[in-house]
Amino acid sequence: MPDASQIAPSAELAHQMQGFVGRYTEKSFDWDAFPGSRGFPDLQRAQLRYVGAGGSPKTNDPTTLKAEHFTFSLVNQPVGKFAASHSHEIVEHFMILQGVLTVGWVWGDEVIEAKLGPKDMVLNSLGRPHGFRNDGIEPVLMQITVGSGTPLAPVHVCHPAQGKDIELSRTFGAASADKIHPFRADSSDHRHAHMAKHVMRYRDMTPEWNDAGFAIMNYVGGTGAPPQNYRMDLIHLPRGKEIQPYARDVEDVYFVIDGAITVGWEENGQTVEKRLGARDLIFNPAGRAHYFRNDGATDAQFTMVVGTPKAETVAFKAA
Ligand SMILES: [Fe+2]
Repeated sequence: MPDASQIAPSAELAHQMQGFVGRYTEKSFDWDAFPGSRGFPDLQRAQLRYVGAGGSPKTNDPTTLKAEHFTFSLVNQPVGKFAASHSHEIVEHFMILQGVLTVGWVWGDEVIEAKLGPKDMVLNSLGRPHGFRNDGIEPVLMQITVGSGTPLAPVHVCHPAQGKDIELSRTFGAASADKIHPFRADSSDHRHAHMAKHVMRYRDMTPEWNDAGFAIMNYVGGTGAPPQNYRMDLIHLPRGKEIQPYARDVEDVYFVIDGAITVGWEENGQTVEKRLGARDLIFNPAGRAHYFRNDGATDAQFTMVVGTPKAETVAFKAA
Protein backbone atom coordinates (compact mmCIF):
# COMPACT_ATOMS: atom_id res chain seq x y z
CA MET A 1 0.00 0.00 0.00
CA PRO A 2 1.61 3.29 -1.02
CA ASP A 3 2.26 5.81 1.68
CA ALA A 4 -0.24 8.63 1.05
CA SER A 5 2.13 11.22 2.48
CA GLN A 6 4.59 10.36 -0.26
CA ILE A 7 2.02 10.52 -3.08
CA ALA A 8 -0.03 13.58 -2.28
CA PRO A 9 2.74 16.19 -2.60
CA SER A 10 3.78 15.11 -6.09
CA ALA A 11 0.13 14.89 -7.19
CA GLU A 12 -0.27 18.45 -6.00
CA LEU A 13 2.95 19.48 -7.75
CA ALA A 14 1.81 17.77 -10.97
CA HIS A 15 -1.50 19.64 -10.75
CA GLN A 16 0.34 22.95 -10.27
CA MET A 17 2.66 22.23 -13.19
CA GLN A 18 -0.28 21.40 -15.45
CA GLY A 19 -1.61 24.89 -14.76
CA PHE A 20 1.55 26.50 -16.17
CA VAL A 21 1.66 24.66 -19.52
CA GLY A 22 0.23 26.09 -22.75
CA ARG A 23 -0.20 23.55 -25.56
CA TYR A 24 -0.29 24.81 -29.13
CA THR A 25 -2.76 22.13 -30.25
CA GLU A 26 -5.22 22.98 -27.46
CA LYS A 27 -5.24 26.74 -27.95
CA SER A 28 -7.17 28.81 -30.49
CA PHE A 29 -6.29 31.78 -32.64
CA ASP A 30 -8.41 34.89 -32.00
CA TRP A 31 -9.21 36.83 -35.21
CA ASP A 32 -10.70 39.70 -33.19
CA ALA A 33 -7.83 40.39 -30.79
CA PHE A 34 -7.11 43.93 -32.01
CA PRO A 35 -10.13 46.29 -31.94
CA GLY A 36 -8.29 48.90 -34.03
CA SER A 37 -8.35 46.49 -36.98
CA ARG A 38 -12.14 46.01 -36.99
CA GLY A 39 -13.69 47.03 -40.28
CA PHE A 40 -10.37 46.96 -42.16
CA PRO A 41 -9.85 43.63 -43.98
CA ASP A 42 -6.29 44.70 -44.95
CA LEU A 43 -5.34 44.66 -41.26
CA GLN A 44 -6.54 41.11 -40.54
CA ARG A 45 -4.37 39.02 -38.27
CA ALA A 46 -4.96 36.45 -35.53
CA GLN A 47 -3.43 36.17 -32.07
CA LEU A 48 -2.89 33.11 -29.89
CA ARG A 49 -2.19 34.07 -26.26
CA TYR A 50 0.02 31.99 -23.93
CA VAL A 51 1.09 34.52 -21.27
CA GLY A 52 -0.77 37.80 -20.75
CA ALA A 53 -2.69 39.63 -23.47
CA GLY A 54 0.25 41.20 -25.36
CA GLY A 55 -0.99 44.04 -27.56
CA SER A 56 -4.62 42.95 -27.19
CA PRO A 57 -7.02 44.41 -24.60
CA LYS A 58 -8.31 40.87 -23.93
CA THR A 59 -6.75 40.64 -20.50
CA ASN A 60 -9.47 38.41 -19.02
CA ASP A 61 -8.93 35.33 -21.25
CA PRO A 62 -9.18 32.39 -18.79
CA THR A 63 -7.04 30.15 -21.02
CA THR A 64 -4.09 32.56 -20.78
CA LEU A 65 -1.36 32.39 -18.11
CA LYS A 66 -0.82 35.44 -15.91
CA ALA A 67 2.10 37.60 -17.04
CA GLU A 68 4.77 38.87 -14.66
CA HIS A 69 7.54 40.82 -16.47
CA PHE A 70 6.59 40.03 -20.09
CA THR A 71 3.80 38.65 -22.28
CA PHE A 72 4.08 35.79 -24.77
CA SER A 73 1.82 35.23 -27.77
CA LEU A 74 1.80 34.19 -31.44
CA VAL A 75 0.47 36.22 -34.34
CA ASN A 76 -0.59 34.84 -37.72
CA GLN A 77 -0.63 37.37 -40.55
CA PRO A 78 -2.09 36.21 -43.89
CA VAL A 79 -0.45 37.03 -47.22
CA GLY A 80 -0.94 40.67 -48.25
CA LYS A 81 -2.09 41.96 -44.85
CA PHE A 82 -0.35 44.67 -42.82
CA ALA A 83 -0.31 46.11 -39.30
CA ALA A 84 -0.37 49.92 -39.27
CA SER A 85 2.58 51.82 -37.80
CA HIS A 86 2.42 52.48 -34.07
CA SER A 87 4.69 52.84 -31.05
CA HIS A 88 4.78 51.52 -27.49
CA GLU A 89 5.96 52.66 -24.08
CA ILE A 90 7.95 49.44 -23.80
CA VAL A 91 10.12 47.15 -25.98
CA GLU A 92 8.57 44.28 -27.92
CA HIS A 93 10.08 41.56 -30.08
CA PHE A 94 8.90 39.63 -33.14
CA MET A 95 10.55 36.24 -33.70
CA ILE A 96 9.57 34.63 -36.98
CA LEU A 97 8.46 30.98 -36.92
CA GLN A 98 7.14 30.70 -40.49
CA GLY A 99 7.15 32.85 -43.63
CA VAL A 100 8.89 36.16 -44.32
CA LEU A 101 7.85 39.29 -42.44
CA THR A 102 8.55 42.83 -43.64
CA VAL A 103 9.08 45.11 -40.63
CA GLY A 104 9.20 48.87 -41.11
CA TRP A 105 10.75 51.33 -38.65
CA VAL A 106 9.55 54.89 -39.12
CA TRP A 107 11.50 58.15 -38.99
CA GLY A 108 9.07 60.95 -39.88
CA ASP A 109 7.92 60.22 -43.44
CA GLU A 110 10.81 57.81 -44.13
CA VAL A 111 10.76 54.09 -43.45
CA ILE A 112 13.48 51.44 -43.23
CA GLU A 113 12.17 47.99 -44.08
CA ALA A 114 13.80 44.73 -42.97
CA LYS A 115 12.74 41.31 -44.21
CA LEU A 116 12.94 38.61 -41.56
CA GLY A 117 12.81 34.85 -42.07
CA PRO A 118 12.43 31.86 -39.75
CA LYS A 119 14.28 32.24 -36.42
CA ASP A 120 15.15 35.86 -37.22
CA MET A 121 14.05 38.49 -34.69
CA VAL A 122 13.57 42.22 -34.31
CA LEU A 123 13.32 43.94 -30.93
CA ASN A 124 11.24 47.07 -31.53
CA SER A 125 12.95 49.75 -29.50
CA LEU A 126 11.11 51.90 -27.01
CA GLY A 127 9.05 54.61 -28.70
CA ARG A 128 10.21 53.86 -32.27
CA PRO A 129 7.14 53.66 -34.55
CA HIS A 130 6.96 50.39 -36.46
CA GLY A 131 4.59 48.37 -38.59
CA PHE A 132 4.70 45.00 -40.30
CA ARG A 133 3.42 43.44 -43.51
CA ASN A 134 3.33 40.08 -45.24
CA ASP A 135 4.67 40.49 -48.79
CA GLY A 136 5.38 36.75 -49.03
CA ILE A 137 3.62 33.71 -50.45
CA GLU A 138 2.65 31.98 -47.19
CA PRO A 139 1.15 33.15 -43.88
CA VAL A 140 3.61 34.62 -41.40
CA LEU A 141 3.61 33.04 -37.96
CA MET A 142 5.62 34.94 -35.39
CA GLN A 143 6.13 34.94 -31.67
CA ILE A 144 5.59 38.31 -29.96
CA THR A 145 6.72 39.30 -26.49
CA VAL A 146 6.06 42.70 -24.89
CA GLY A 147 8.28 43.74 -21.99
CA SER A 148 5.48 44.43 -19.51
CA GLY A 149 2.87 42.24 -17.86
CA THR A 150 0.20 44.84 -18.63
CA PRO A 151 1.25 46.89 -21.69
CA LEU A 152 -0.62 50.08 -22.57
CA ALA A 153 -2.55 50.34 -25.85
CA PRO A 154 -0.30 51.12 -28.85
CA VAL A 155 -0.10 54.71 -30.11
CA HIS A 156 -0.98 54.68 -33.82
CA VAL A 157 1.11 56.75 -36.23
CA CYS A 158 -0.46 56.07 -39.61
CA HIS A 159 -3.68 54.06 -39.34
CA PRO A 160 -6.73 54.02 -41.66
CA ALA A 161 -8.99 54.52 -38.61
CA GLN A 162 -7.38 58.00 -38.31
CA GLY A 163 -8.58 58.75 -41.82
CA LYS A 164 -5.16 58.00 -43.35
CA ASP A 165 -5.10 56.61 -46.89
CA ILE A 166 -5.02 52.81 -46.93
CA GLU A 167 -2.02 52.66 -49.31
CA LEU A 168 -0.10 55.22 -47.21
CA SER A 169 -0.88 53.10 -44.14
CA ARG A 170 0.38 49.99 -45.96
CA THR A 171 3.81 51.66 -46.40
CA PHE A 172 3.75 52.77 -42.73
CA GLY A 173 3.50 56.45 -43.77
CA ALA A 174 6.10 56.60 -46.57
CA ALA A 175 4.37 58.53 -49.39
CA SER A 176 6.64 57.45 -52.26
CA ALA A 177 9.19 54.78 -53.17
CA ASP A 178 12.14 57.10 -52.49
CA LYS A 179 11.04 57.35 -48.85
CA ILE A 180 11.38 53.58 -48.35
CA HIS A 181 14.87 52.20 -47.67
CA PRO A 182 15.75 48.50 -47.56
CA PHE A 183 17.53 47.76 -44.28
CA ARG A 184 21.32 47.42 -44.57
CA ALA A 185 23.06 46.18 -41.44
CA ASP A 186 26.45 47.53 -42.60
CA SER A 187 25.23 51.07 -43.42
CA SER A 188 26.88 54.05 -41.71
CA ASP A 189 23.47 55.84 -41.67
CA HIS A 190 22.58 56.16 -37.97
CA ARG A 191 19.04 54.87 -38.54
CA HIS A 192 20.26 51.63 -40.15
CA ALA A 193 22.98 51.33 -37.49
CA HIS A 194 20.39 51.72 -34.72
CA MET A 195 18.13 49.13 -36.30
CA ALA A 196 21.08 46.77 -36.80
CA LYS A 197 21.52 46.55 -33.03
CA HIS A 198 17.94 45.26 -32.81
CA VAL A 199 17.77 42.78 -35.70
CA MET A 200 19.13 39.28 -34.95
CA ARG A 201 19.47 36.80 -37.78
CA TYR A 202 19.69 33.10 -37.03
CA ARG A 203 22.26 32.54 -39.76
CA ASP A 204 24.61 35.04 -38.07
CA MET A 205 24.27 33.63 -34.54
CA THR A 206 27.34 32.19 -32.85
CA PRO A 207 26.26 29.36 -30.57
CA GLU A 208 27.98 29.52 -27.21
CA TRP A 209 28.52 25.97 -25.92
CA ASN A 210 28.67 25.48 -22.16
CA ASP A 211 29.92 22.75 -19.82
CA ALA A 212 26.36 21.44 -19.41
CA GLY A 213 26.48 20.32 -23.06
CA PHE A 214 24.07 22.71 -24.76
CA ALA A 215 24.44 25.90 -26.78
CA ILE A 216 22.98 29.35 -26.10
CA MET A 217 22.29 32.04 -28.71
CA ASN A 218 21.53 35.49 -27.26
CA TYR A 219 18.62 37.27 -28.99
CA VAL A 220 17.67 39.84 -26.33
CA GLY A 221 20.37 40.68 -23.78
CA GLY A 222 23.99 39.51 -23.72
CA THR A 223 25.40 39.77 -27.27
CA GLY A 224 21.84 40.19 -28.62
CA ALA A 225 19.59 43.24 -28.80
CA PRO A 226 19.71 45.64 -25.81
CA PRO A 227 17.29 44.30 -23.17
CA GLN A 228 14.77 46.34 -21.24
CA ASN A 229 12.57 44.25 -18.94
CA TYR A 230 13.46 40.73 -20.07
CA ARG A 231 16.10 38.60 -21.87
CA MET A 232 15.64 35.90 -24.48
CA ASP A 233 18.00 33.14 -25.60
CA LEU A 234 17.59 30.35 -28.12
CA ILE A 235 18.72 27.10 -26.51
CA HIS A 236 20.07 24.28 -28.70
CA LEU A 237 19.76 21.09 -26.64
CA PRO A 238 21.36 18.02 -28.22
CA ARG A 239 19.63 14.65 -28.03
CA GLY A 240 20.23 12.93 -24.68
CA LYS A 241 21.40 16.03 -22.76
CA GLU A 242 19.93 16.88 -19.34
CA ILE A 243 20.65 19.63 -16.82
CA GLN A 244 20.34 19.75 -13.05
CA PRO A 245 17.47 21.65 -11.40
CA TYR A 246 17.94 25.39 -10.94
CA ALA A 247 15.77 28.23 -9.64
CA ARG A 248 15.65 31.96 -10.34
CA ASP A 249 14.25 34.93 -8.45
CA VAL A 250 12.17 35.78 -11.56
CA GLU A 251 10.09 33.67 -13.95
CA ASP A 252 11.40 31.96 -17.08
CA VAL A 253 9.45 30.55 -20.00
CA TYR A 254 10.42 27.76 -22.41
CA PHE A 255 8.83 27.69 -25.86
CA VAL A 256 9.74 24.80 -28.16
CA ILE A 257 10.78 25.68 -31.71
CA ASP A 258 12.10 22.31 -32.95
CA GLY A 259 12.04 18.77 -31.56
CA ALA A 260 10.64 17.91 -28.13
CA ILE A 261 11.88 18.44 -24.58
CA THR A 262 11.10 17.09 -21.13
CA VAL A 263 10.71 19.68 -18.37
CA GLY A 264 10.81 18.80 -14.68
CA TRP A 265 9.74 20.61 -11.53
CA GLU A 266 11.26 19.67 -8.19
CA GLU A 267 9.98 20.23 -4.65
CA ASN A 268 11.11 18.61 -1.40
CA GLY A 269 12.98 15.89 -3.25
CA GLN A 270 10.02 15.01 -5.48
CA THR A 271 9.90 15.64 -9.20
CA VAL A 272 7.16 15.81 -11.79
CA GLU A 273 7.72 16.08 -15.54
CA LYS A 274 5.96 17.16 -18.74
CA ARG A 275 7.00 16.67 -22.33
CA LEU A 276 6.65 19.65 -24.65
CA GLY A 277 6.42 19.47 -28.44
CA ALA A 278 6.78 22.17 -31.07
CA ARG A 279 5.06 25.44 -30.04
CA ASP A 280 4.23 24.16 -26.55
CA LEU A 281 5.16 26.47 -23.67
CA ILE A 282 5.82 26.23 -19.95
CA PHE A 283 5.96 29.14 -17.51
CA ASN A 284 8.32 28.41 -14.60
CA PRO A 285 7.45 30.79 -11.74
CA ALA A 286 10.05 32.62 -9.65
CA GLY A 287 11.55 30.36 -6.99
CA ARG A 288 10.49 27.10 -8.64
CA ALA A 289 13.31 24.53 -9.03
CA HIS A 290 13.13 23.23 -12.61
CA TYR A 291 15.22 21.50 -15.27
CA PHE A 292 15.12 20.29 -18.88
CA ARG A 293 16.20 17.22 -20.81
CA ASN A 294 16.05 16.00 -24.39
CA ASP A 295 14.59 12.47 -24.61
CA GLY A 296 13.60 12.94 -28.24
CA ALA A 297 15.00 11.51 -31.46
CA THR A 298 16.55 14.77 -32.66
CA ASP A 299 18.31 17.78 -31.19
CA ALA A 300 15.81 20.30 -29.80
CA GLN A 301 15.65 24.08 -29.89
CA PHE A 302 13.58 26.23 -27.56
CA THR A 303 13.51 29.87 -26.59
CA MET A 304 14.03 30.80 -22.96
CA VAL A 305 12.59 34.15 -21.89
CA VAL A 306 13.72 35.39 -18.47
CA GLY A 307 11.93 38.13 -16.51
CA THR A 308 14.93 40.40 -16.03
CA PRO A 309 17.25 42.38 -18.31
CA LYS A 310 20.23 41.48 -16.11
CA ALA A 311 22.96 39.09 -17.27
CA GLU A 312 22.51 35.34 -16.74
CA THR A 313 23.23 34.26 -13.17
CA VAL A 314 22.48 30.53 -13.50
CA ALA A 315 25.51 28.25 -13.89
CA PHE A 316 23.89 25.33 -15.74
CA LYS A 317 25.24 21.91 -14.79
CA ALA A 318 24.87 18.63 -16.64
CA ALA A 319 22.75 16.09 -14.74
FE1 LIG B 1 4.25 46.90 -31.84
